[in-house]
Amino acid sequence: MSTDDWKRQAAEQALTYVEDGMKLGLGTGSTAAKFVDLLGAKVKSGLKVVCVPTSEATRAQAAALGIPLTTLDETPELDLTIDGADEIDSDLRLIKGGGGALLREKIVAVASDRVVIIADNSKRVENLGLFPLPLEVVPFGLGATQNLIVKLAADCGCEGEVKLRVGTDGKPFVTDNGNHILDCAFGLIDDPEALDDALKLVPGVVESGLFIGIADVGIIAGPKGVEVLS
Ligand code: 5RP
Repeated sequence: MSTDDWKRQAAEQALTYVEDGMKLGLGTGSTAAKFVDLLGAKVKSGLKVVCVPTSEATRAQAAALGIPLTTLDETPELDLTIDGADEIDSDLRLIKGGGGALLREKIVAVASDRVVIIADNSKRVENLGLFPLPLEVVPFGLGATQNLIVKLAADCGCEGEVKLRVGTDGKPFVTDNGNHILDCAFGLIDDPEALDDALKLVPGVVESGLFIGIADVGIIAGPKGVEVLS
């Protein structure tokens, strides 16, 4: 079995959390996309749900599959969000944003009664931080924002390169919200809560990819089977 199969296994298990009539948040990334595919098949065979996508990419995928869509303006409270992650620890703390959708992902997750994270076992970590932490930042004042991030992170014992993400076109990556992403290679993060609090003090930081106290369930699939964290 491959990583792709494990992503699909986790997505299949997440479907068991979906009930007819639910209002769902749909995550972003290759694992979430597998869930969206499976959900599309269920919708085709009669499942009634209405969904808020966390990115334009997921919106396009879900629309192509005929999944009914809404917005958080029309439907501000959701029953369940299913999303992927770049890292997940045993306390269900996450790093997200590898796909650049972290802001909408966090808004949608926090608007949901329940958040289920699906992942292959390469995402399961003892300590967060090997995956560079993505931060969504406004384009204005980028240099000053970057300096302040470095300073405040150092106060939390986190040091490392803070790099502007570049897209496949060689230009700064632009999120669905018109912002940029800084990828912070801090290495292992001793105190994710303290770092998250510190980063939120930087005026140009819109949101951090640390998701703490947000996920309710983690479904991790790998060679040893499916592990469910809750
Ligand atoms: C996007 C995300 C994704 O959920 C995360 O990057 C995992 O993606 P994938 O399932 O492709 O590994 O946070 O912003």
